Amino acid sequence: MSAERQPIGVIGTGYVGLVTAAGFAQLGSDVFCIDIDADKIARLKAGEIPIYEPGLAEMVAANSARMHFSTKIADALARARLLFVAVGTPPTYSGDADLSAVHAVVEAIPAGSARGGEQGHALVMKSTVPAGTGASIKRVLAEQGKHGLCYVSCPEFLKEGSAVKDFMSPDRVVIGDDGDWAGDAVVELYAPLDAPLVRTDIASAEMVKLASNAFLATKISFINEIANVCEETGADVVEVAKGMGLDDRIGHKFLQAGIGFGGSCFPKDVNALKQLAGNSGYHFQLLNAVIEVNELQKRRVISKLLKHLGSLVGVKVCLLGLAFKPNTDDMRDASSLVLSARLQADGAHVRVYDPVAEREARSLIRGVHFATDALDAAQGADAVVLVTEWREFLELDWAQVAARMSGKLVLDGRNALDAHAVAAAGLTYEGIGRGSLTSLSG
Ligand code: UGA
Repeated sequence: MSAERQPIGVIGTGYVGLVTAAGFAQLGSDVFCIDIDADKIARLKAGEIPIYEPGLAEMVAANSARMHFSTKIADALARARLLFVAVGTPPTYSGDADLSAVHAVVEAIPAGSARGGEQGHALVMKSTVPAGTGASIKRVLAEQGKHGLCYVSCPEFLKEGSAVKDFMSPDRVVIGDDGDWAGDAVVELYAPLDAPLVRTDIASAEMVKLASNAFLATKISFINEIANVCEETGADVVEVAKGMGLDDRIGHKFLQAGIGFGGSCFPKDVNALKQLAGNSGYHFQLLNAVIEVNELQKRRVISKLLKHLGSLVGVKVCLLGLAFKPNTDDMRDASSLVLSARLQADGAHVRVYDPVAEREARSLIRGVHFATDALDAAQGADAVVLVTEWREFLELDWAQVAARMSGKLVLDGRNALDAHAVAAAGLTYEGIGRGSLTSLSG
């Protein structure tokens, strides 16, 4: 293999595809990005980045000479051997992963143009798929006469909001393959990142991804249940998590209690793993609890509001943040969706503000007032709820917020605010799993 970086194709230009493409371009590869969405490709060709991801626009701009955009898979096949697949695998009604976009990619590769062997092509699966997908795709490839087209599983561990950094310094790279040239080529592509490498069989690589997300989601639901018990016992979950996390077998990460996990990955992947187990006759009890705890946790704000305010009919509630977490405009499975709907169903008037996700949110959240900034959202509010811990909310001047509000309640759904600063402004602070702190200034 020459020292020259090999060109690659990336099919799907969503969060995963675009970051992967920009990352490999940064490492020196020519990258042929393919998407069936002609509008998206036109925008990318014009230098516009269709998603909000810190550092991504800069990375794409810096590598524009090496990044090529097209709607035709043939353009990637003609120039690259490795075709990274990064298309969506949303949940179906049954909770299984919908693999139709993955199958459409397989279909779109013409038998004649996909060469096998040392000089051939390989599909490198980045999309999160159930364990066993690689084996079934290989069967489909054989049925369609696409012999020799190799298959590699290379699951993605990027976090939205820090995806560019995660690409450049991954905790690990997992490559599942049949021990052929394609696995070696993917190993070589990742070599400059100098990350711990797990090279294994395809099914195990697929399972590493699902099990990792399910474990992280379990950690969150676990600390959320501890938070709920803390509320009954007078303990503070933030202190408890600090004490637990110092045990390096436990660690501090993903022990932040709050109003539940969301996003395009955890809810979908936990469910998909549960279904995958169920389809093969195994009842994955733990994951049922993880999912149920998360659903109840999103609604916990409602019971706290009721405790402080009585009925919610006619009450004005301000939601700070809508995205499923900070530094993203992603609204998929965001706790704000459940919260705004529940509040309105209980008769509350809802004012919302998110610094980045408003455009996405407008098509999903109806009947609320979209405010121009946090202070505007707090105008006349009986209660302010922190839903997404954007930095600008952590730096709010609570005296100014108090002056806008008509009530005094601040519910910190992410345990991210300075409780004393809130209380010093004459407001009542309540977090998740840590009791409340009332008005220090009387
Ligand atoms: C997650 C994984 O962290 C990535 O490793 C994985 O690659 C990705 O899914 C994927 O499968 O593509 P992401 O969905 O971007 O990444 O978001 P996270 O940062 O993991 O947060 C997920 C949710 O958990 C957020 O709603 C966040 O608010 C919540 N969370 C996180 C907590 O409630 N408490 C915590 O302590 C940590």
